[in-house]
Amino acid sequence: MGRQPWVGHLTSGWLGQRVPRGHGRQGEQWKYVAGMEPMPDVTRFFHPVLPARTLRKKPLRVELAGRAYALFRDGTGKAAALADACPHRFAPLSAGRVRKDGRLECPYHGWNFDAEGRGRSPSQPDLKRCDTRAFQVVERHGYLWLADRDAPLSAFPDFVPEGFEFTGSFSMLFRAPLHVALDNFSEDEHTPFVHTRLGWDDHDTGGIEFSAENHEDRTEVHYRAPQRASWLVRLLLLKPGDFFHNDWVTRFDPVRAGYTIRWTGKAGEPRPFTHHYAIFMVPETARTTRFHVFAFLKLLDPRYRPLLPVVSRAHRVLAWFEVRDDALFIPTVADTPYSMKGMRLGKYDKPLIHQRKLLERIYFGQGTEEAAALVFLAQSSGT
Ligand code: FES
Ligand SMILES: [Fe+2]
Repeated sequence: MGRQPWVGHLTSGWLGQRVPRGHGRQGEQWKYVAGMEPMPDVTRFFHPVLPARTLRKKPLRVELAGRAYALFRDGTGKAAALADACPHRFAPLSAGRVRKDGRLECPYHGWNFDAEGRGRSPSQPDLKRCDTRAFQVVERHGYLWLADRDAPLSAFPDFVPEGFEFTGSFSMLFRAPLHVALDNFSEDEHTPFVHTRLGWDDHDTGGIEFSAENHEDRTEVHYRAPQRASWLVRLLLLKPGDFFHNDWVTRFDPVRAGYTIRWTGKAGEPRPFTHHYAIFMVPETARTTRFHVFAFLKLLDPRYRPLLPVVSRAHRVLAWFEVRDDALFIPTVADTPYSMKGMRLGKYDKPLIHQRKLLERIYFGQGTEEAAALVFLAQSSGT
């Protein structure tokens, strides 16, 4: 197994100088999950972490960039998040319970905490310094979104496309580091080989139209190709010989791609629906990435409104199958190095290198000098 990018940097002492192991503020050790070195903290961004309906009476554990969080609903039913390590002896608070008064109780010695992280010890009621670190949780679009307490709501990602109807969401685990998952969602060249429904067949692979632009804060990609035959796409009111158009924008605050998919007939006439998927790629650990997908549909021709429920269902099922194709395949390439040194990149890979830079600068908040050091270390560590 190859060394992971953040492991390589941290063991070399690079970020280690900023986040020294075993030091830092109270409870800092909670961030070390399963012996892994930490990735840079990304909680200045709001990340979707859990469908809101799944958080009920029991606390639940979620992970983000190698840190674990205990989510629970307080006495008012509002979702809250604490570092998932009790300040006493680091037992996971998510294995505890929510008391009748809405405080989260540690399963080990019963220390308990409110949504602000203010702690009490039942056996030493006068004990001071029982508090733990609390985070912000926002409930929107059927999900719980986690961020630092001082992250302004204005930082909430803007991902709802105008003129579209929200049709549903789903989550899926990718057993690969963030950079591998991101690269997979940055080109359609793998479409005829990894997928079986959307897009073109391998015999059409030489004739696709493609363009891509790299910007300061995002990448944009466009594909146009013959749509292959599939029983599922027929439910989307397509005709044989239609063209598949896939356009997307990838942003890094946090990491997400907004995919727009539509079809046209031979003369360029649009088919009745346009589909949009906002795909959030949330690194849970250095080796796993959780995808949260929000689906949207736009009806272009009002005569088809009666078919909206059927098409809406088909478009969610289709997205689920397509993302699952990638999720099933991704372990095969999970050890792909972070550095692209030695790779024979082609035109379809144009966004990939630029995205590494945006990932480092925008998402992980590293300056140019640090980013350069990161690339150097990744390369010299053989990743
Ligand atoms: S470890 Fe939580 S109360 Fe002791
Ligand atoms: Fe794919």
